[in-house]
Amino acid sequence: MTGAFSDSLPVSAEPVPPRIGDPAPDFSARTTQGSLTLSDLRGQWVLLFSHPADFTPVCTSEFIAFSKAADRFTALGCRLLGLSVDSLPSHLAWLEAIRVSFGVRVPFPVVEDPSMAIARAYGMLDGAAESSATVRGVYVIDPAGVIRAITWYPASVGRSVEELLRLLQALQQVDRAEVLTPEGWHPGDDVVVPGELTEDAVAATGQAWFLQYARCTPA
Ligand code: BEZ
Repeated sequence: MTGAFSDSLPVSAEPVPPRIGDPAPDFSARTTQGSLTLSDLRGQWVLLFSHPADFTPVCTSEFIAFSKAADRFTALGCRLLGLSVDSLPSHLAWLEAIRVSFGVRVPFPVVEDPSMAIARAYGMLDGAAESSATVRGVYVIDPAGVIRAITWYPASVGRSVEELLRLLQALQQVDRAEVLTPEGWHPGDDVVVPGELTEDAVAATGQAWFLQYARCTPA
């Protein structure tokens, strides 16, 4: 292709990061619980989350919170999968230090990615950062292997595990009943339904035709 715009675009060797609706890039890697291939987890929800580095304060606080909430993710049919560019020996030493120092066993696998191949495939490397540390990325992958939600936080701000549970429950609710979840929705709250967009339907619904609540279908 020629032209002023295409000629001036920067040439990048980095793969285009996946977006919502894309298939989750597959990978096989060593983890703290043995080798794992992402596509072997098809049929389950997966919450793949990257962290900048082992043995760092914010990451440690997140791992403690994820570990304490792990049973709640399991009850929702969701596997937790941590990842950083640190090596497997580093991950193992850090998880042991968390167990000894905080009395918390990390029950989910943590993927090593020393070549940064996975981080690159997912776009987890912060372009503005001067190190190879990954951002705090979260990729919610559905049972068909499709990325359904992505969140990105900087290294300096810890994520809310409660919010990630809420996000997972909202995605599952949306799938179950073909509805939408409004701001701050929690299981049991009313959902919203996309109304029919015809003059007759709008006239019948009234002035607030563009925001209609409906009872939530229980899980
Ligand atoms: C942390 O988890 O505390 C952290 C990690 C990387 C950079 C800054 C903070």
